[in-house]
Amino acid sequence: MDEHPTQAAGYVLGATDLEHQRLMLQGRILRPATERFLRLSGLTPGMSVLDLGSGMGDVSLLAAEIVGPRGRVLGVDRDPVATEKARGRARSEGFGTGLGFEVAELDEFDTAERFDAVVGRYVLLYQKDPADLLRRFTRFLRPGGILMFHEVDFTGHNPSWPPSPLWDACNQLLSDVYLATGTPPDFGRRLNRTFLDAGLPAPGVVCEALVATGPHSPLVPWLAYTLRSVAPVLAQAGLSLPEGLTADDTLPQRLAEAVWEQGSQVLGALQYGAWTRVP
Ligand SMILES: C[S@@+](CC[C@H](N)C(=O)[O-])C[C@H]1O[C@@H](n2cnc3c(N)ncnc32)[C@H](O)[C@@H]1O
Repeated sequence: MDEHPTQAAGYVLGATDLEHQRLMLQGRILRPATERFLRLSGLTPGMSVLDLGSGMGDVSLLAAEIVGPRGRVLGVDRDPVATEKARGRARSEGFGTGLGFEVAELDEFDTAERFDAVVGRYVLLYQKDPADLLRRFTRFLRPGGILMFHEVDFTGHNPSWPPSPLWDACNQLLSDVYLATGTPPDFGRRLNRTFLDAGLPAPGVVCEALVATGPHSPLVPWLAYTLRSVAPVLAQAGLSLPEGLTADDTLPQRLAEAVWEQGSQVLGALQYGAWTRVP
């Protein structure tokens, strides 16, 4: 499997068509948690929102629903193809000029606009200095503005019971490949420290997890597709899929069988929401 240029630049998931589809699957799985976190943070109709690392636009679309027609949402991402697809989704879902997307490196993004909220999902963990990024983006907030980030921790060991060795090994492998590329797979539990390091008030933090209990759980294809997206990086990191597995269309089915033949219950990654208001 070829490495995508963004993977060569250190972004472990790359920017292939497959990764874009994976992001939309992930968006459907995470939507209820992200919506809860956005509402807990205080997002309400009429607000303006800046979404960092907007990808295929899932968080921006959700925020646009919450802030409604009087609100405004701008998503920012470095991936021009995903951003164009996000624009297409916004159009086909009937959003007008209140929802826009811009291609930019977060370190280079600039605007004279001031927002009521800066939000992001699964983006801080990929930054060299997440606290510095938060500090930088507080300057685009109005006084009293909201920062809300949804991040993840998938370092839980042996998440299946009865144990499914194949599932547990794949889960561990994902954690290992993130560590090997300098991306903390436990970033969710670092949110409080990151906000404090950015000079922000201590955030409210909540944590929840999805649990897979049947053959139709989306957690199985989610892990399979994530492993497919990181596959080009595995060999460079000296890692490989467990014996008998290949990073192709057979992976979701093989993982599903490994889980369901034991009747396992699987604990998914921990989902953290953290939010605060600037003075
Ligand atoms: C895991 S995806 C999450 C996408 C989206 N937030 C979601 O939850 O569906 C991370 C996104 O952040 C973007 N990204 C990461 N670091 C970035 C940076 N420094 N500048 C711009 N985009 C970045 C990637 O291109 C990717 O689209």
